[in-house]
Amino acid sequence: MSQDTLTVTHSRTGMTAELPILEGTLGQPTVDINAFNSKFGYFSYDPGFVSTASCKSEITYIDGDAGILLHRGYPIEQLAERGTFLETAYLLINGELPTKHELDAFMHEVGGESMIHEALRHFFSGFHYDAHPMAMMVGVVGSLSAFYHNQIDINRRDDRRISAIRLLAKMPTIAAACYRHSIGMPFVYPRADRSYCENFLNMMFSVPGQNYPVDPIAAKVLNLLFILHADHEQNASTSTVRLASSTGANPYACIAAGIAALWGPAHGGANEAVIKMLTEIGDSSQIPKFIAKAKDKNDPFKLMGFGHRVYKNFDPRATIIRKACYAVLEKLDFNDPLFNLALELEEIALKDEYFIERKLYPNVDFYSGIIYKALGIPVEMFTVMFAIARTAGWTAHWLEMKDEPNQRIARPRQLYVGVPQREYVSIEKR
Ligand code: ACO
Repeated sequence: MSQDTLTVTHSRTGMTAELPILEGTLGQPTVDINAFNSKFGYFSYDPGFVSTASCKSEITYIDGDAGILLHRGYPIEQLAERGTFLETAYLLINGELPTKHELDAFMHEVGGESMIHEALRHFFSGFHYDAHPMAMMVGVVGSLSAFYHNQIDINRRDDRRISAIRLLAKMPTIAAACYRHSIGMPFVYPRADRSYCENFLNMMFSVPGQNYPVDPIAAKVLNLLFILHADHEQNASTSTVRLASSTGANPYACIAAGIAALWGPAHGGANEAVIKMLTEIGDSSQIPKFIAKAKDKNDPFKLMGFGHRVYKNFDPRATIIRKACYAVLEKLDFNDPLFNLALELEEIALKDEYFIERKLYPNVDFYSGIIYKALGIPVEMFTVMFAIARTAGWTAHWLEMKDEPNQRIARPRQLYVGVPQREYVSIEKR
């Protein structure tokens, strides 16, 4: 069958170009716009990359209208119900679900790499006690490249693989160290004999000289949240990792760039912003006031945890988390008035014409903070939690990209709207 094309005609010259239409295995076809430049001498203009596919990828598929999210073909609902976070990470990175033997070996390797260098522990003392943990994460993760410079040759497959494992393994250790530093508690060494989530909770909350039995409910729900945040195709932070990586930067620097991009409230910073917003709203009588603020074009306020670039029906992750909220709060016997407030806010917003027209629904982070709060995780750590989970996706995309033949530096162009060329004026004449 011949390839479909899109014929583009220049209105003034009548010159035409046939643009090839590329078909993926699922989803919207994509037009190869190379000829815009090579034939017409034009760039394409797409601020925010609303209509641009930046790469080919086999990792994650999203159908935003139908609320579908697949990792390597597996629906998120099935992974969330039956999988573990490390199993999902293995799937994202390797393309297939692991056998029991493969998963055991993977867990063993991740557990074995979970320590951080003693010298790295001293980095934390350079941060003020009230430094935001995401600020520490960006710095400390980036600095990992200073510890593994013998094994960060991005052209060597073995170096790439061990870098990905190290990142996945050390993120919880670094994250917990950020928290312990902020409360002046000694760091806790990772335990390779515990599961990924149990180990993290132990590093966060155990007290020296005391036994800390990890609550299995807490470990289970953390596992669920990590699965739901593990990957989301070419979102802002993943695209940042890919862009940094296209220059040949080392993996730790690339992931640090991803962490920085995740921090913004329009992206992963939303989970922290949601709790702050709900606290500010305070009680249901104030909801109409905040809905009005969100609709007011002269007010920068937005309903945090609402809206998504891709999902225009519902975010399947939000549906799972909302359901989990009920179960977790009940099991942990944690009565959080913010959860009821969030439910009321959602109900009112979803009936409002402004939100209906714009297809604005709760996203993954509308409810995730309620669960983190119930687990005793402080609000400033919420985006760090996201970063731990998303490291699975970031590394999977980084590895995929590095395997691509003919990969080129990502270098967009621009529509220049500044002053045309002019002559330099000496300072006394300005
Ligand atoms: N509250 C009020 N209005 C909103 C909201 C919101 N949360 N989100 C979008 N809108 C409005 C916009 O103002 C715009 O209105 P207009 O058409 O009258 O100008 C319209 O809906 C379309 O929104 P865009 O800004 O074009 O949507 P975009 O795809 O660029 O942005 C984003 C998506 C960043 C998620 C946005 O919805 C937002 O800021 N939401 C709040 C922050 C948030 O929850 N971020 C987490 C996203 S999920 C994640 O990263 C894990």
